[in-house]
Amino acid sequence: MAEKVIQLAPMLGLIDAPFMNAIAEVGGFDEIFAPYMLADERSMPKPQVLARRFSGISNRVNLVPQLLSNNADAFVAMANILNNLGYPKVNWNLGCPIKFVVSKNRGAALLRDLENLERLLDSTIGRLKPELSVKIRIGFSSPDEFPAIVEIFNKFKLNELIVHARTAEQQYGGEPYRQAFIESAGNSLNPIVYNGDIACAAEANISLPNLKGYMIGRGAIVNPHIGLQIKGLPTNSAPTFRQFATEITHWYCARNSLNRLKELWKYFAKALAKPDDIQAKLCHITNAEQVSVAVDEIFET
Ligand SMILES: Cc1cc2nc3c(=O)[nH]c(=O)nc-3n(C[C@H](O)[C@H](O)[C@H](O)COP(=O)(O)O)c2cc1C
Repeated sequence: MAEKVIQLAPMLGLIDAPFMNAIAEVGGFDEIFAPYMLADERSMPKPQVLARRFSGISNRVNLVPQLLSNNADAFVAMANILNNLGYPKVNWNLGCPIKFVVSKNRGAALLRDLENLERLLDSTIGRLKPELSVKIRIGFSSPDEFPAIVEIFNKFKLNELIVHARTAEQQYGGEPYRQAFIESAGNSLNPIVYNGDIACAAEANISLPNLKGYMIGRGAIVNPHIGLQIKGLPTNSAPTFRQFATEITHWYCARNSLNRLKELWKYFAKALAKPDDIQAKLCHITNAEQVSVAVDEIFET
């Protein structure tokens, strides 16, 4: 079986340039998905603005931009600008479950009306210059919706269909419906990518002929070597977890972005002994210098 593609999941508010750059140094991830940007007719960014958005990201990162939209013209316009900027593939976020996104009929909300979704895809795909990758949920309310969703996407040629195997109503908690994924994903005519709670190499063991690979989110923050481990590659010449976490910490400290850093450390702490003690230590800190000292102490102990 061909080697699986490993993708880093987009995570708005958690993953930006320093994390992307550091995980590209570690290796094992073939593609890194950027957190979503809104594609809306009323606020179409200029190409220079879009290019600046990704300016801190190293050339080693194979970046896939992601768009959130319910408007074919806006999606096509922004995706084609991104293609002109050098991105061969763009991802469409049809899985975001957050209330303020769903209430505007964007993200996972579009999975609730499959006739409308088909019309939207139909009026978009023929005009797109980049390849189209789509990220969905296994259903809005129930995994029983998944077979019909797969059928809709079978009418179109996609680069891939990435499935977060939780329903939108589950948000980010509870168990992914891994079995329901396995039962219907094989019917996809498009290459399919599994996403949801892959925390170690042994969990990347789905056997389907059309499975292109795995998208990994929170598991990659706790274990940045997971891409290498899934591929069976050595990790001893890659940066260590300490080097990885310290590099990212210094980047945020230098910019005084302590809130972002504390969010990330909620996950980093899980990779270390006594995660609750670590969080307790970091949550009262109010300046960057204190964070640097505390992180050095955490790794020394
Ligand atoms: C804080 C946070 C932000 C997220 N932002 C995005 C986003 O911008 N676009 C998207 O498609 N999914 C987003 N997701 C969902 C993840 O990409 C992924 O589908 C989800 O975390 C499940 O994968 P995991 O169990 O490996 O973490 C986000 C998840 C989290 C926890």
